Amino acid sequence: PLPPPFQVPLPIPAVAAPVSTSGGVDRYAITQREASVEILPGVRTPLWTYGGTFPGPTIESRRGRPVTVTHRNELPVPTVVHLHGGRTPAASDGYPTDLVLPEGRQDATPHMGHGMPGMHAGMHDPRAVVTSLTRDYTFPLDQRPTLLWYHDHRMDFTAPAIWRGLAGLQIVRDDAEEALGLPAGRRELPLMIADRAFAADGGLAYPALDPTLRERPGVTDPYLAGVLGDVILVNGAPWPVHEVDAVRYRLRILNASNARHYELEAVTDDGRRLDLVQIGADQGLLAAPVTHRVLPIAPAERYDVIIDFSGVPVGGRVRVLNRLGSGRTRDVLAFRVARTATDGSRVPRTLAADLPAWRRSDAVRVREFAFRTGRMRGGHGWLIGGLPFDPARSDVTVGLGDVEVWRLIADVHHPVHLHLVGFRVLSRNGRPPLPHDAGLKDTVSLRPGEAVEIITRFDGYRGRYLFHCHNAEHEDMGMMANFEVV
Ligand code: C2O
Ligand code: CU
Repeated sequence: PLPPPFQVPLPIPAVAAPVSTSGGVDRYAITQREASVEILPGVRTPLWTYGGTFPGPTIESRRGRPVTVTHRNELPVPTVVHLHGGRTPAASDGYPTDLVLPEGRQDATPHMGHGMPGMHAGMHDPRAVVTSLTRDYTFPLDQRPTLLWYHDHRMDFTAPAIWRGLAGLQIVRDDAEEALGLPAGRRELPLMIADRAFAADGGLAYPALDPTLRERPGVTDPYLAGVLGDVILVNGAPWPVHEVDAVRYRLRILNASNARHYELEAVTDDGRRLDLVQIGADQGLLAAPVTHRVLPIAPAERYDVIIDFSGVPVGGRVRVLNRLGSGRTRDVLAFRVARTATDGSRVPRTLAADLPAWRRSDAVRVREFAFRTGRMRGGHGWLIGGLPFDPARSDVTVGLGDVEVWRLIADVHHPVHLHLVGFRVLSRNGRPPLPHDAGLKDTVSLRPGEAVEIITRFDGYRGRYLFHCHNAEHEDMGMMANFEVV
């Protein structure tokens, strides 16, 4: 029984309460556990959750103020937590074999499909298995304010684990951003967009080869390109609606879908398209706002957007639609303008004055990586440079502080994500980047057949990090590689 569109109220994920804030560190505790949650009205859906909800609790943090999250795993399988977009030391970055073992798990070597768990992570001592029921992840958050998200990252099983609900938001703020006067408080809305499919019994449907998510990774044949759902959830609610004042709002949009791309537009009842004024990208504020009528958003990308409802009559509605969808996947969410109100917010012409402007001539190296389909484990795979992911192999070594240009080549659509660093898009197929490529990114959407050049400085921390396709099924089917910062 799917609800009609734009009836269910938009939930705002609860902000996590710290366990302590002493000693200059904010400490949180999150228990990963099964929970039965009402997503479709009147129906209970069993999920895997961070703290009992989907999305998990939002962690509010300040730039440069460390956060430690103690994760406790009460799920039936090992898990791994990654803070996507976090500038995080490798030990807390959630390497795919760096497991938090489930409670009661006595055997030390859960089957991982391929590779040896923790072989190179050096921190997964089989004899220490009992202590792995909980794990402290420490995030320095010495980075630009932006919207991050945390999600599962276990090798071979990331896609079904995120699908079951292991995803939550984290926001980094600082004084400079708050001084800009952007819409805030109730007028700042995090929007985690994710599609899901439901079985007749109300449970989530996912075409896993092994529904226990223990032994055999992968999905059944028709889903090798990625798993799509026919229900669009925003903050865990199907096609929700939110009452707004006739003023500016700040929408902090994340595409947390496994494989679905969106082209968002905001349309009034009389068919007018409202401007989507982009003020930030994955890794923080732009130099200056960029106005879009249609905003493409690939899996794992974030867009920080101002929308102005002041021209919409009270009682009117603005629907956010996905131009790439059809039927019910065209609808995303709606806003109902409830009342007029005064608006003290501003959208300054200059947002961030200090964005890095690396130039091609700064780069000490240009590398090329092809993201293409291929064969792995005797079956279908998704490969980088002809190879499937292997945690025992070092693919790329970069010098700490080096600027490099990476040329990323795609066969079909691949949203490519680098851990640790923010980058800028230099070119697409030899042409200048698109308007939505502005700012500092950590995920870039390679369109079919495209070659995209990105540039970054590998600074922050030494250690082993990942880059991969963020189509989560592609990621599980091999499209991931290591880079080592030395
Ligand atoms: Cu959002 Cu490597 O992940
Ligand atoms: Cu891909």
